[in-house]
Amino acid sequence: VGAAALIGAGTGLGAGEVLAPRADTAADTAAAPRLRMSGAHAPASGPGRLQPGITGTPPAFAHVLALDLADSPGGGGEGGGSAAESRERAAEVLRAWTAAADRLREEGPAAVLPGAPSAGLLPASLGVTAGLGGSLLAAAGLQDARPEAMADLPSFSTDALQQEWCGGDLLLQVGAEDPVVAAAAVQHLLGRAGARVRVRWAVRGFRRTAAAAEDPGATPRNLMGQIDGTNNPARESSLLQRTVQVGRAAGPAWMAGGSYVVVRRIRMLLDDWFGEDSGHRERVIGRDLPTGAPLGQQGAGAEVDLTARDAEGRPRIPEHAHIRLASPQNNLGARMLRRGYSFDEGWRGDGTRDAGLLFMAWQADPARGFVAVQQNLAEAGDALNEYTRHEGSALFAVPPAARNGGYIGQDLLE
Ligand code: HEM
Repeated sequence: VGAAALIGAGTGLGAGEVLAPRADTAADTAAAPRLRMSGAHAPASGPGRLQPGITGTPPAFAHVLALDLADSPGGGGEGGGSAAESRERAAEVLRAWTAAADRLREEGPAAVLPGAPSAGLLPASLGVTAGLGGSLLAAAGLQDARPEAMADLPSFSTDALQQEWCGGDLLLQVGAEDPVVAAAAVQHLLGRAGARVRVRWAVRGFRRTAAAAEDPGATPRNLMGQIDGTNNPARESSLLQRTVQVGRAAGPAWMAGGSYVVVRRIRMLLDDWFGEDSGHRERVIGRDLPTGAPLGQQGAGAEVDLTARDAEGRPRIPEHAHIRLASPQNNLGARMLRRGYSFDEGWRGDGTRDAGLLFMAWQADPARGFVAVQQNLAEAGDALNEYTRHEGSALFAVPPAARNGGYIGQDLLE
């Protein structure tokens, strides 16, 4: 079974077409098969499919790692490797990850890692996603193949970036419904890459677990307590596909059917946030805290009405509310799929909490997704800015799933 078998159910479209993004792991199915993820859910392989870990229900745990090729100039090494060597090294890593991800999924992390902490555990919807950063293309002499959509992110006036949380030659996202399964899979995948790579930064992300959820289908809350993800493009909609998946016409061929992810490590100033009264916290976002409904409206699912006014004529959703400034209506239709994870690394030396949102935005073109919206949030004065710090940033091209017997990124690297 090829690596594309990692990628969700087939859509019935012919080989070579860019497929609808029914592309995740078995995570869309009911809880029991989802945790076991048996081969029964293995889709037909074929080009043009998204990798797992993009459009399906996010699992409760995810490790997100940025790695550098050990010999690339950006990787802190000697910078001595030639472009051809870097290219070959990247191909070796992606080949190893593609094969390992297949085995992890099919046989479970216990089988591939004898004596691993995951012994006796089920695959738990384990899904592996791999991507490439602009620095890798530069190191491998592949600048000419670099798509316009992969342009470096501009800096934003609200950035508080720290280099140790930025960039990376390669992205590895390993998600599972169990933290031990995810950790064991990361250990295995890094072992397969060996000395060819070194970890640049890593975040262990989490969301609420199925065990704790009163309603496992409900949109989860972030660490600020807000229901987060309501106004994402709907599951399996054509809007989701258009938003996330690179079309064949957009080019280049090696990215057709893939996606681009912007990752931002956003620290939340939680003490400041919870020091505000709940009415203020609701006005910052523009939604009711208990229900997630847009202010002045009923139910989280209500279509946001940015024109609504109260009896005194004031906008129901304040001028600087996050959902007003982030809305496609105020950003020339810019959209993305937000699929982030909370992180909580305890307390920093100065006594402040190091916790927040590992924001991950998936889109076919970051210029018409994350970049447009973030520019507006920074320049127009998103009320949320006072309570957040963007400390890490990276952009990765996430090619389509591998062909049967091939590997992720093969069309670029060979
Ligand atoms: C909506 C929280 C950062 C883009 C929302 C909502 C919440 C939220 C609670 C309303 C519910 C929903 O529709 O999901 C946060 C927090 C952030 C953050 C806590 C940082 C820690 C960002 C960033 C961007 C962004 C960096 C993009 C640059 C959006 C968009 C919407 C949204 C596009 C939907 C707006 C609409 O059309 O209704 N966010 N957000 N958010 N956010 Fe954020």
